[in-house]
Amino acid sequence: MVTPFVDGWDFVQTLGEGAYGEVKLAVNRTTQEAVAVKILHLDKSPGASEAVRKEVCVHRMLSDPQIIKFYGQRKEGTIQYLFLEYASGGELFDRIEPDLGMPMRQAHRYFTQLMAGVEYLHRKGVTHRDLKPENLLLDENDNLKISDFGLATVFRHQGKERELAKCCGTPPYVAPEVLKKKEYRAEPADIWSCGIILVAMLAGELPWDEPTYSCKEYSDWLDKKMHLSPWRKIDPLALAFLKKILCETPNRRYTIAQIKKDRWTKSKGVFGKVPSSSPSSSGSFKRVCSGTDLSPSPALPRDNSCNKVSSSQPIAQAPNTPGDGSSSTVDDLVHTISFSQPVHINDMFLSSQLQCTPGASQTPMQRLVKRMTRFFTKVDADETLKTLGRCIEKLGYTWKKTTPRQVTVTTVDKRQRQLVFKANLLEMDNKILVDFRLSKGDGLEFKRQFVKIKGKMTSVITKGPLLFPTLTPTPQ
Ligand code: ADE
Repeated sequence: MVTPFVDGWDFVQTLGEGAYGEVKLAVNRTTQEAVAVKILHLDKSPGASEAVRKEVCVHRMLSDPQIIKFYGQRKEGTIQYLFLEYASGGELFDRIEPDLGMPMRQAHRYFTQLMAGVEYLHRKGVTHRDLKPENLLLDENDNLKISDFGLATVFRHQGKERELAKCCGTPPYVAPEVLKKKEYRAEPADIWSCGIILVAMLAGELPWDEPTYSCKEYSDWLDKKMHLSPWRKIDPLALAFLKKILCETPNRRYTIAQIKKDRWTKSKGVFGKVPSSSPSSSGSFKRVCSGTDLSPSPALPRDNSCNKVSSSQPIAQAPNTPGDGSSSTVDDLVHTISFSQPVHINDMFLSSQLQCTPGASQTPMQRLVKRMTRFFTKVDADETLKTLGRCIEKLGYTWKKTTPRQVTVTTVDKRQRQLVFKANLLEMDNKILVDFRLSKGDGLEFKRQFVKIKGKMTSVITKGPLLFPTLTPTPQ
């Protein structure tokens, strides 16, 4: 028997997609608890079941404010569902403005939280191996949470460290030693990725495609050509700090203990003058395809070190959820979530019941509109779709109506790489919210295309108070 308090978990929207599958937001209609559900297809690749087993095994041993919580799992045939803490602030990636980055103070705050999360992981003997802004989520208070443990592994067990050999991660974020096909130490490799994330936050671009000598931008870094972008955009104290983190020799690279003592860390990000940023950067900030196992080698030996943790503790109370005593447990969630029935969006978000939720400063929908790649129109859904279709055609892109309220756009970027994004239409307060999401390709290009489309749709876009930051066009 299903209790009324836990019945009615419904999928509301897709939060992210990748090679692994997708992550959806599920909301309990009664209690408004929100969870992220990662949906993995075990029949997509031969090693998928083992990879998911390992992800679960590592993720469930973790519990820290800077790590997305793992609530439980459920398998249905060849589909595995992972129930995770929902981070309503979206990805750190969305806070980075292409070619500009973000204010240094904000970058400093995120970086400090990132280091706290990584320090926790390393203390537990776990390495993430795919740290990048797309895997760093933000909660409703703008606190950073490390997510996606699909490539994580245990590198220290019972005090004994092992070196790693698997070449994995996302090339622009990966440390040079990881690409050298020799054994490497886990901790310095994660710290390198954090350095690249800091560059992305401070300059809005990635310094190189990969840290190999054949990559000109990386050779220029080794040759200390600091007059080039992105380095010339970065404050001198922050740059001195980055030199210690992006140090090619892993044993000489800053450790977390050294990072904590550094002058930039202690400066709180308010120190020094930021050199005026050059808008004409040659590099670009890419939302690079999801972290892959870059090695041809078979799966790593099994870790036997994963602690078994009971999955029946109560779900951590969602921040805006009233403590009504309904006490959903992970087991309730795992067993009663509905995989079939989408709920009507207006019922979900605009009901007076939800808006009165104690402590809720924003409804989930209000939080949703904070993302950057979206706008409201003043015409109805059909007219919005027609206008959108005309604009997309004028820009020469291919598009298809994938559902009555969704358009999928396919094009190529200036480097001839495929770019696919979706525009979803949602009715809200008698207006149509057009929400764009990248499915495949370069994040900077996606944001540029969004700005172009938005520019062509001005006649139907509402001019009212902005609910979200507007993107400024970046040079081509
Ligand atoms: N995207 C991927 N995982 C997510 C999560 N746990 N919360 C919010 N968005 C996500």
